[in-house]
Amino acid sequence: MKTLLVTGGCGFIGSNFIRYMLDKHPDYMIIGIDALTYAGNPENLKSIEDNPNYRFFRADIRNRNMIEQIFAFYTIDYVVNFAAESHVDRSIKEPDVFLTTNILGTQVLLDAAKRQWRLHPGNKYDRSYRDGVRFHQISTDEVYGSADDGEKFTEESPLRPSSPYSASKAGADMVAMAYRRTYGLPVTISRSSNNYGPYQFPEKLIPLIIINCIYDRPLPVYGDGLQIRDWLHVNDHCRAVDMILHSGKDGDIYNIGGDNEKANIDIVKQIIHTLGKSEELINYVEDRPGHDRRYATDSTKIETQLGWSRNHSFEQGLEECISWYLDNMGWVKRIVSGEYRRYFETMYG
Ligand SMILES: NC(=O)c1ccc[n+]([C@@H]2O[C@H](COP(=O)([O-])OP(=O)(O)OC[C@H]3O[C@@H](n4cnc5c(N)ncnc54)[C@H](O)[C@@H]3O)[C@@H](O)[C@H]2O)c1
Repeated sequence: MKTLLVTGGCGFIGSNFIRYMLDKHPDYMIIGIDALTYAGNPENLKSIEDNPNYRFFRADIRNRNMIEQIFAFYTIDYVVNFAAESHVDRSIKEPDVFLTTNILGTQVLLDAAKRQWRLHPGNKYDRSYRDGVRFHQISTDEVYGSADDGEKFTEESPLRPSSPYSASKAGADMVAMAYRRTYGLPVTISRSSNNYGPYQFPEKLIPLIIINCIYDRPLPVYGDGLQIRDWLHVNDHCRAVDMILHSGKDGDIYNIGGDNEKANIDIVKQIIHTLGKSEELINYVEDRPGHDRRYATDSTKIETQLGWSRNHSFEQGLEECISWYLDNMGWVKRIVSGEYRRYFETMYG
């Protein structure tokens, strides 16, 4: 049995990933940890909370003591680090927590993994580790900054992050790669494009627009709405991470894109029409400072080297996603009212 530590497991992608992995690898033990910030919702994992192969700990990845205790208690084979402050707008207002969680928190995890996995910790030149271990860092295509017309980012593209969020993710990537080069720690990194799917916190474009549409509230659109994002279904992302974890090359970086570039305003209109609402709900607001105009991700490497491909077309994926939010209005209401924040106390005391 392999033991997988997933950080940020109560967030959008982390919770989808834990469900995906328990289904795909029923013999794995999964340890989920999450600080339960405003973005962490343990209800996202309600369907698996009684699964004997899943354990949850409320822990902040910056808390070295607690992280080391978890590593002391479990023999961990894989770490997948999703835990992060993830919303660009918040990073513009409060950059500090982005730098501490996303960079220093990652370093705490790297240290704990190095300490548990290293075969001869007393020898600073020794680069041997227990067989079959890996630290996978979840990064983002935003580290490459804004793409020019016709340009697609490859793994070799320079890092030109624009926001405190993307700068902190680029910083974490560099720290992870430094641990690979200096200490030989088995590390991989993936940089995915924008995800959509069930359980996404409604501060991000697609769930925000779906939920505001449902409640006939104004639909805020930044600037002219022509910013282009490359949308990827969260399950296609989870499958890619699983492949990298098991077959990716140690020390390598993999881009994961949706091959599906859409302007924000077109997404907004598609949701409006699917829900039978009026475009009069659209409310153009002042653009975000430093807003990247376009993201475009070249996924050739993961496609050709690991055989990954997308299972979801955007049209079908978006319709399913809208249906999911409509079918889970209890979840939506508990988020909108803030009641979800009481779930942990109610369930776990
Ligand atoms: N959502 C996207 O489109 C997207 C695209 C590319 C990459 N990513 C990356 O994927 C990861 C997950 O993104 P998401 O959209 O699921 O974000 P999210 O905000 O939904 O989830 C983040 C989770 O991390 C937890 N967390 C925050 N600070 C923590 C800390 N100090 N210690 C422990 N847990 C903490 C939160 O409670 C939350 O559950 C992030 O690393 C993000 O940078 C996201």
